[in-house]
Amino acid sequence: MTAKERIDQLRAELHRHNYNYYILNAPEISDKEFDDLMRELQDLEKEHPEYDDPNSPTQRVGSDINKNFTQVYHKYPMLSLGNTYSEAEVTDFYERVKKALNEDFEICCELKYDGTSISLTYEDGKLVRAVTRGDGEKGDDVTDNVKTIRTIPLVLHGNYPKSFEIRGEILMPWTVFEALNQEKEAREEPLFANPRNAASGTLKLQNSSIVASRKLDAYLYYLLGEDLPADGHYENLQIAAGWGFKISDCMRKVHDLQGIFDYINYWDTERKKLPVATDGIVLKVNSLRQQKNLGYTAKSPRWAIAYKFQAERALTRLNKVTYQVGRTGAITPVANLDPVLLSGTIVKRASLHNADIIEGLDLHIGDMVYVEKGGEIIPKITGVDKDSRSFMLGEKVTFITRCPECGSQLVRYEGEAAHYCPNETACPPQIKGKIEHFISRRAMNIDGLGPETVDMFYRLGLIKDTADLYELTVDDIKNLDRMGVKSAENIVKGIEASKNVPFERVLFALGIRFVGETVAKKIARSFDNIEDLEKADMAKLMSIDEIGERIAQSIVSYFANPANKNLVGRLRAYGLQFARSEEQKGEFTDKLAGQSIVISGVFTHHSRDEYKEIIEKNGGKNVGSISSKTSFILAGENMGPAKLEKAKKLGIKILSEDDFLALIS
Ligand code: IVH
Repeated sequence: MTAKERIDQLRAELHRHNYNYYILNAPEISDKEFDDLMRELQDLEKEHPEYDDPNSPTQRVGSDINKNFTQVYHKYPMLSLGNTYSEAEVTDFYERVKKALNEDFEICCELKYDGTSISLTYEDGKLVRAVTRGDGEKGDDVTDNVKTIRTIPLVLHGNYPKSFEIRGEILMPWTVFEALNQEKEAREEPLFANPRNAASGTLKLQNSSIVASRKLDAYLYYLLGEDLPADGHYENLQIAAGWGFKISDCMRKVHDLQGIFDYINYWDTERKKLPVATDGIVLKVNSLRQQKNLGYTAKSPRWAIAYKFQAERALTRLNKVTYQVGRTGAITPVANLDPVLLSGTIVKRASLHNADIIEGLDLHIGDMVYVEKGGEIIPKITGVDKDSRSFMLGEKVTFITRCPECGSQLVRYEGEAAHYCPNETACPPQIKGKIEHFISRRAMNIDGLGPETVDMFYRLGLIKDTADLYELTVDDIKNLDRMGVKSAENIVKGIEASKNVPFERVLFALGIRFVGETVAKKIARSFDNIEDLEKADMAKLMSIDEIGERIAQSIVSYFANPANKNLVGRLRAYGLQFARSEEQKGEFTDKLAGQSIVISGVFTHHSRDEYKEIIEKNGGKNVGSISSKTSFILAGENMGPAKLEKAKKLGIKILSEDDFLALIS
């Protein structure tokens, strides 16, 4: 491979990982692997300036994934556990331990929580550091984010050791996860596949006030330190509960194999009633002295093992594959199955995700397929039982090439797994989806209108796009099914009122791909009106904080489409807000443009949230934790000692409240 080919390959790969991380919140590689790829690319680019590219991932502000978190070495490496799926291997583990110890021992049985692991360091009864697992040796310092988790004590009570570490799992409860996904769906953002991804994605957010709003939870299950109160792991955790930690009350000590299997069997079904996700059982030799005797292999302790529950799986027949068109035009292939019972519900349909997955399964109609409902909410096809294929093999499933709704030729964007119907302006589900988005609460917030009404208006030919809404009269709709004069008047009034919705929300309402609420806000602060936005080129758009190539490209192509331009023109003619109001203009400056600012301590003139807003309105970025990238710290009274020390170490400026107010006045 030539240097040029490798550079191109690395750029494409890094763009994809950036997207997985930032947009999907579903990284496929570790931070270390990402950093290694990035470093390789940086080195190659330095060696070959002739292949310079202003859009290379190395140039982009957002390319340094986790650089806003400082990397911290773990005092004791964070090892993982050996996994087993069979009772026979549990027996092997038990027998191995028995032979090695050659004395009585107890096993502590606990649930294996399915979240993201965390290591907390306490000194003199105060939480000083929270670090993610990372690569096991070092992880990200996410202390500020972890401090927002109510179940993690910041200050301990009782008789705790002077210095110790406690490890556990950060979790997003099912109810919070479901509500979050519902919100994301309403905002047309990609959903989290499971609570684990949601928890780890949340923990890596740069803005700790969003983390706070996500209501994470945590269970602690492993105490480490020199002067722990007892020899028993179980006993230590019970004592730690007294210092203020949330310790699972599902832990049990057992004395024999039967006790272990009873525990496994009980929790295999009972765990479904728990408020958080679990994916197995952890078995630990209880005595710390015995743990020490047993020691470690290179990767995991010999004194513990994880037994993972089999994801529930069922075998059923694939009858056909249908395709759904989402409101962004994304095509989802759906397996239509013989109904089958899975984790208490009848499953008839399962997601097949995308063309690559179908190809990978070598799927044929009539195949007996395995359906699984793991941590995910939507069941998926995980395999084909090829042995049960008869000589009459059904037709091979090949991905469609045309949109099932409008017949347009489908497209696949570089680096994306999904196929799209490009017919944004005339494909029925896309149009309806766009109108539904337009009227939604966070967009134009049109009272009295909902998806069913939109569907009816569309079917009757009353509206063909969002602008048509502004032509509706009470007479047009008052005699329709379940309508009447009163609701008709309400709808028309609601539509009229939406003409006052501010520019940033109108921008969001347009439904430009990748332009969510936050991006719309950023754009509305950088352009006075829609004409300026229409004229903006890639470079201009990408100079805005947090707007990368993908979003910029999407905005440019939106306005390159005459149908969109026409629609915007009509909406403007109806009187929608396509410019920042004078009042809004005065609120924003770029005095803090490009600056990353950490807020710490207690303030007198404004609240923390107000300072956050002031920073954003002046073009700055409020970040959660101090790193070498931090421009300065806005410090109130009682700034934390750990932060102060870190700021000093990195030589970062500290501004008092008054200094700061003077700076922006
Ligand atoms: S003990 C050295 N206990 O499972 C052993 N881990 O692969 C330290 N986990 O990274 C871990 N529930 O994130 C332990 N009750 C539990 C657990 C648990 C979940 C996770 C943890 C760890 C992974 C092990």
